[in-house]
Amino acid sequence: RVASPLATRALGLEAARSFSSSRSAQAKVTVVGAAGGIGQPLSLLLKLSGKVDHLSLYDLVGTPGVAADLSHCNTNGKVTGHKGASELKAALQDADVVVIPAGVPRKPGMTRDDLFNTNAGIVKGIAEACAEACPKARFLIISNPVNSTVPIFAEVLKGRGVYDKKKLMGVTTLDVCRAQTFVAENLGQSVNDTAVDVIGGHAGTTILPLLSQVEGAKFSDKDLEALTHRIQFGGDEVVKAKDGAGSATLSMAHAGAYFAIRVLAAMEGEADIRECTFVENDLTAAPYFATPVILGKDGVEKVLGFGKLSAFEQKILDENVPALQAQAKKGVDFVHKA
Ligand code: NAD
Ligand code: LMR
Repeated sequence: RVASPLATRALGLEAARSFSSSRSAQAKVTVVGAAGGIGQPLSLLLKLSGKVDHLSLYDLVGTPGVAADLSHCNTNGKVTGHKGASELKAALQDADVVVIPAGVPRKPGMTRDDLFNTNAGIVKGIAEACAEACPKARFLIISNPVNSTVPIFAEVLKGRGVYDKKKLMGVTTLDVCRAQTFVAENLGQSVNDTAVDVIGGHAGTTILPLLSQVEGAKFSDKDLEALTHRIQFGGDEVVKAKDGAGSATLSMAHAGAYFAIRVLAAMEGEADIRECTFVENDLTAAPYFATPVILGKDGVEKVLGFGKLSAFEQKILDENVPALQAQAKKGVDFVHKA
C-alpha cells in the first residue's frame, strides 16, 4: 500500500517554496470562483507552489484585483484575471487543470443539498464552457453538493462527447485532512505520522472514514463513534462557528491546493501518487464514489478500492450507497430536464 503523503507533505509556505525552487511546471491551471472565500487563498497557495506556469483566475467579479495582487509574488508563473461570462472561455482556453470552487456556501441549518438549486445551474454552465474551451483538462470539483455536482459536470461532458471519467474528480481532500487531524489528536501523535482514508461521498453520513485501517490504532467503541461523527460533520462545525458568514474556506483552500498540486505532480510523471477522490467507478452500486486512487499523467490512473471494512463501517457503507445513488440521479436528471 502506498502511504498517503498528505500529512508528511502538508502544504505550508516552506513546502511551497521548496516545490517552487525544484521543478518548474508547464501547466495552465484555471480557478473558477477565484475571487471567493476559497478561491483567493487557494489561488495564493497555487501561486506559491511554483508548479503553475499560468494561473488563470476567473470569477463574476473581483478577479482583476486578485490577479494583480498575486502577480507580485516572486514565485514561478504568470497570473491572469478574467471577469464576467464573456471572459470565461478565455480563462479556460487550453487549461490543463481546472479547479472549481464557484457557487454559494452553506449557512447554519442548511444541508449541502440545500445548495443544489443555486449551484447546480452554476456548475452546469461552467461544464458547458469547459467542454468547449478545454475538454482535455483535468476537472477538480469543489462546489457543493459534490455528490450531485460531479454527476452534473459528467453529464454535460458526456452530452458533448468529451467525457473522460479519469479526468473528473470531486475534491474530498478536506475530509481526509479532518480525519488525519482529529485522529492524530485522539491518539496523541503527530499528524505527520497519521494516515486515514475517507471513502463514500462528501455530505454528512455519506462521508466514511476508515478508522479500522489506521495503522497501529485501536479505538474504543465510544471514540470510534465520536471520531466518525466529527469527521462526517466537520463542515457543520465550521458553518456553525462562522455563524452565517459561510463555510470552510481556509482549510478548503489548503486541501484544494494540495490536491491540485498532487494532480500536477502526477501529470509531470511523479509515480505512486495515492489520494482519495470522488470519481466514477464500479466499486459499489453508486455511480460515483470516493475511494483511494493512484493519480497519473491523465488523472485517475487506477481505482484502488477500499479493502476490508469493519462491521461498523460496512453498515454505514450499506446506508450510503442508496443516498449516493439518489444524489447522483438528482444531478443527472437536472442536466436532462434543463
Ligand atoms: P464564496 O461565496 O465565498 O465564493 C464563491 C465564489 O463563486 C464567489 O466569488 C462567486 O462570485 C463565484 N461564483 C458564483 N457563480 C459563479 C459562476 N457562474 N462562475 C464563476 N464564479 C462564480 O463561497 P466559498 O466559501 O468559496 O465556497 C464555494 C463553494 O465551495 C460552495 O459551494 C461551498 O459549499 C463549497 N465547498 C466545498 C468544500 C469541499 O470539501 N468540497 C469545502 C468548502 C466549501
Ligand atoms: C465542508 O466540508 O467544509 C464543505 O463541504 C462546506 C460545508 O458546507 O460544510
